[in-house]
Amino acid sequence: MGLHELMERGGHRRLIAVVDRDSGLRAWIALHHLDRGPAIGGIRIWTYRNEAEAVADALRLARAMTYKCVLAGVQGGGGKTVVHADALRDRAAAMRRLGEEIEALGGVYHAGPDVGFGPADAFEVERATRHLACFGGGHSGLRPAGEATAEGALWGIRAGLESLGVTDLAGITVAVQGLGAVGCALARRLLEAGARVVAADPDPAAAAAGERLGVELVEPEALPDVPCEVWAPCALGGSLHDLTISRLRTRVVAALANNALSRDDQAVQLARRGILYLPDFVLNAGALIEGEGHARTGRTDWSRELRRIGDTTRRVLERAARDGVPPLAAARTMAEEVLAAEAASRSPVS
Ligand code: NAI
Repeated sequence: MGLHELMERGGHRRLIAVVDRDSGLRAWIALHHLDRGPAIGGIRIWTYRNEAEAVADALRLARAMTYKCVLAGVQGGGGKTVVHADALRDRAAAMRRLGEEIEALGGVYHAGPDVGFGPADAFEVERATRHLACFGGGHSGLRPAGEATAEGALWGIRAGLESLGVTDLAGITVAVQGLGAVGCALARRLLEAGARVVAADPDPAAAAAGERLGVELVEPEALPDVPCEVWAPCALGGSLHDLTISRLRTRVVAALANNALSRDDQAVQLARRGILYLPDFVLNAGALIEGEGHARTGRTDWSRELRRIGDTTRRVLERAARDGVPPLAAARTMAEEVLAAEAASRSPVS
């Protein structure tokens, strides 16, 4: 399928190839939606096997950001930048060039951090553009973004469990995949609420941080086999594939990692196995709500608004039950309906 067809199918507006030979910058900026404020979305620096994989990642992540904004009540659309990590020769110069490109877009795209994009990269990008949103940490006065993400997601997890008749986190077992910023923040909250947390991370430093919190560690390959009430992907996208799904012994999959499913039809597989799937773009909007709200108003405490993620999750589950579809499909439909209503209200009356 050609690029235009791919974009048409996903409803994307713009896809920009960015190249700088001297620094080795090879990036794609995907802008999914531009009619409800700036397209918002992080910069991912990652190793891609080929161009098609990078483009597909950018388009898929940008579209999910639109849904995330809509369902979180954030006035913006979805965007994403992906950078080929292996092509980078002079990383600092490449980030400045990328910043210039973002600046040249004139504010229709507000970039932010994502996987592989660290504070040193942000420093360079910020030298060239005003349009790098800070989603927490650093000099922002906000707590690190992973904290807001975990706090918001936990409201969604509570709502998911409630729909199964589980009203207390005390005594339940949660499997957490990945003990980075989000995974550790989630594990800490779960432990404080009296849950048992079994977790895995291949990075020894991350695993040790989890152990200090009180999680029980298992090897990453063993995590899908852990009997639990909730299985929470907090590592990289695509960790749930056909093989892992067939092994899961959980009642709920709570996706905090973006694009946790490697393919959308796996939401149906999970439903057939009787596992409730809580979609990533519903659960992990906490840092977006807090970061965007802070950028707009300067306010730092967004805990009240993060509770809305629980309400949204409940509405998604009610809609899924009503339509007889998995929650992923219901969440998409709900977001598309909002977008369609907005588009209709913008159309000139004939
Ligand atoms: P991070 O880089 O701090 O942590 C990811 C952790 O996953 C690392 O410690 C890594 O070693 C571990 N990991 C990698 N492969 C693994 C495997 N096979 N099994 C177990 N652990 C594995 O990243 P962060 O910020 O915690 O983000 C995690 C996910 O959440 C990402 O998918 C990100 O896109 C998503 N997300 C993060 C937000 C944030 O506020 N940081 C906001 C929304 C989404």
